[in-house]
Amino acid sequence: MAEFKEISPDAPLAAKAMNWVDNRFPASKLYKEHMSEYYAPKNFNFWYIFGSLAMLVLVIQIVTGIFLTMNYKPDAALAFGSVEYIMRDVPWGWLIRYMHSTGASAFFVVVYLHMFRGLLYGSYRKPRELVWIFGCAIFLCLMAEAFMGYLLPWGQMSYWGAQVIVNLFAAIPFIGPDLALLIRGDYVVGDATLNRFFAFHVIAVPLVLLGLVAAHIIALHEVGSNNPDGVEIKGPNAPKDAQGHPLDGIPFHPYYTVHDIFGVSVFLMIFSAIIFFAPEFGGYFLEYNNFIPADPLKTPAHIAPVWYFTPYYSMLRAITSEMIYALIVCVVGAAGFSVWKFRMPVLLKAAVVGAAVVGSALLLSIDAKFWGVVVMGGAVVILFFLPWLDLSPVKSIRYRPDWHKYLYGIFVINFLVLGYLGVQPPSPIGERVSQVGTLFYFGFFILMPWWSRVGTPKTPPDRPVFHGH
Ligand code: HEM
Repeated sequence: MAEFKEISPDAPLAAKAMNWVDNRFPASKLYKEHMSEYYAPKNFNFWYIFGSLAMLVLVIQIVTGIFLTMNYKPDAALAFGSVEYIMRDVPWGWLIRYMHSTGASAFFVVVYLHMFRGLLYGSYRKPRELVWIFGCAIFLCLMAEAFMGYLLPWGQMSYWGAQVIVNLFAAIPFIGPDLALLIRGDYVVGDATLNRFFAFHVIAVPLVLLGLVAAHIIALHEVGSNNPDGVEIKGPNAPKDAQGHPLDGIPFHPYYTVHDIFGVSVFLMIFSAIIFFAPEFGGYFLEYNNFIPADPLKTPAHIAPVWYFTPYYSMLRAITSEMIYALIVCVVGAAGFSVWKFRMPVLLKAAVVGAAVVGSALLLSIDAKFWGVVVMGGAVVILFFLPWLDLSPVKSIRYRPDWHKYLYGIFVINFLVLGYLGVQPPSPIGERVSQVGTLFYFGFFILMPWWSRVGTPKTPPDRPVFHGH
């Protein structure tokens, strides 16, 4: 047990109370470690507000979610009506519901920008690999959370979206049909599905999400934040003052609390404008078909997930039986290239060729729908490996060869095009474009160990550069 710290009997009451707490719980220690003496690089820019914004949106979702649960009924016969009741009769119910539905989209906007910042400045690289991995796990949970939440209003899109996505699991060989049955709890999406999705959406996934966010921040504060120059401020060679604090760091509180409050204010203005003036956001945040109660006997003409899933949905739809041949060419080409280019023992060469043959045979023998599911899942799973795919000698995009910037630009445009195509009904031209887009998306990551080393980077400065605003 740590020794009790004494405090003067003449000290103010608040100081005495704090001392009483500190002798029993490390409140001041935690505050110092994570706020007033957490030294963050002095050169953060606006890209660094999205972490705090993600925390804000998480809180908004949890608080509004609690109030929604007070009037929502997780019952297939009552769910749709209970949401209408919240919207029309519950005092301020419309506001709570619009905050929650807009919050879901805002979460993904903020998190996508937050992840893109990581890509720009190489924030996933050593020593922040775990910060990134926890982040990717958060992203997966967030997708599960949004998917299950979307079933709850029990509208046409809720119902048919869930039907389509759960049926995808049925494409997995051997276990697929049983797995889909286990997820649904019935042979079609029904009351049992609604009940279990409700349980996962309101408690199971949020608990995991909160735990992961805590782990994300603890891991970040263990190694310290990166910055737009990608230069470490806490490393053994970084300059420090007499107390050992980094010369290029400033205490998180008050400097970045003020910075973040500014970001939060701008965010809340945009967030409120959407809630009050365009809560459906042209059908992107709340789809029009979801204002019609779920009807298991009437399939909507066009089923599309909400915008934040559509890049992945496009990749799923891109994997047609024709595309399988393109994938086989990629697998065989990659195996042939590595056998030709890299020096390796004969046995390993044989293993590579064998793997390519087996891979191609599997591609041909299992339904393209299954490979679509693999590609869709793989598009998220590949993000976990980013810390080991990027081998550039410098972290930040600022010091990389110029063409890396253009490549990142094309990556973003490609992701947006895939997202756009995912909202549209299928078309022959859309299918081709999404196939090329899918190949580009995976090529970007799989070939990164090669292209990230090509070209001459600029020499990063020894210390981060700060330009006053
Ligand atoms: C609920 C979702 C999330 C929350 C609340 C959250 C919160 C935060 C906060 C508060 C920071 C420090 C401030 C900042 O650098 O912006 C941070 C940093 C970071 N986050 Fe997240 N995050 C979330 C999701 C993610 C995701 C999905 C990823 C990536 C897949 C990610 C990757 C990172 C990385 C790499 C850093 C360090 C950035 C740097 O030091 O340059 N985060 N996060």
